[in-house]
Amino acid sequence: MKIINTVREMQNHSDFSRMRERSIALVPTMGFLHEGHLSLMKDGKKRANEVVVSIFVNPTQFGPGEDFTSYPRNLDRDLALCQDAGADVVFTPKDTELYQSAYQTYINLTKLPNHLCGISRPTHFKGVATVVSKLFNIVKPHIAIFGQKDYQQLLVIRQMVCDLNFDIEIIGAPIVREADGLAMSSRNTYLTPEQRKQALCLYNSLNKAQELVNSGVIETAKIIDAAKDIISSQPEAMIDYIRICDPDTLEDVQILDKPVRMVLAVKIGKTRLIDNMMLTIESLNKL
Ligand code: PAF
Repeated sequence: MKIINTVREMQNHSDFSRMRERSIALVPTMGFLHEGHLSLMKDGKKRANEVVVSIFVNPTQFGPGEDFTSYPRNLDRDLALCQDAGADVVFTPKDTELYQSAYQTYINLTKLPNHLCGISRPTHFKGVATVVSKLFNIVKPHIAIFGQKDYQQLLVIRQMVCDLNFDIEIIGAPIVREADGLAMSSRNTYLTPEQRKQALCLYNSLNKAQELVNSGVIETAKIIDAAKDIISSQPEAMIDYIRICDPDTLEDVQILDKPVRMVLAVKIGKTRLIDNMMLTIESLNKL
């Protein structure tokens, strides 16, 4: 497994691979890898000749007062995990390699970031879209794989790829969960054992929502109220948002007459967690 720190070396490597007609899958990460990331790498191995994993805690997607400096980092452990998962290259640049002091170009989407996480984190998606487009130009992948846990991020990237004509296929991989259902996240390590138990309220409320839909409830307000009850019963849980929305535009949906995405962000103590699930209507599937 090759470890590359500079833009020039990464671009040269990819040019050489492309010249030999080797396909490249990019798995962009911020490190502190878990099973979710490893499943993206394994997926990449099946889809392409080479898997490039980027490990970069991107400063521009963190707002003031967020956890950029305390974000968990452990490069040695990450490299060992990448090696085990069969990654071919790890691209791990320094901050100054991607953002020189004269840096001034950012990518802004006009609609998708006006919902959900974009409201509580107003500059987040500008930072994500910017760094991902830079990674696309540096790694030159044929495909790029993102987890569906960051559902809004996935939509933002798909839209950006379409708008800016990147010749890259974007894959949205299923959420990987702990045995009890908690969605895997590098931020789960912030949770105390007591908070870890409480964090299950996100998954429980999504399951309750699907149960209600199965029992015939179609008013999203009722489903959201049930989720609020489950989450508010946890002493350290603070709801940022709970929404049931159109899976493409993220506009709120009032009545379920098509599959929708339920998305939520909840703080457990100081740790902000997100999760989501498609809610499907069995009766519609039978039509
Ligand atoms: O999902 C993440 O880990 C990050 O937002 C990403 C896509 C690597 C960009 O920094």
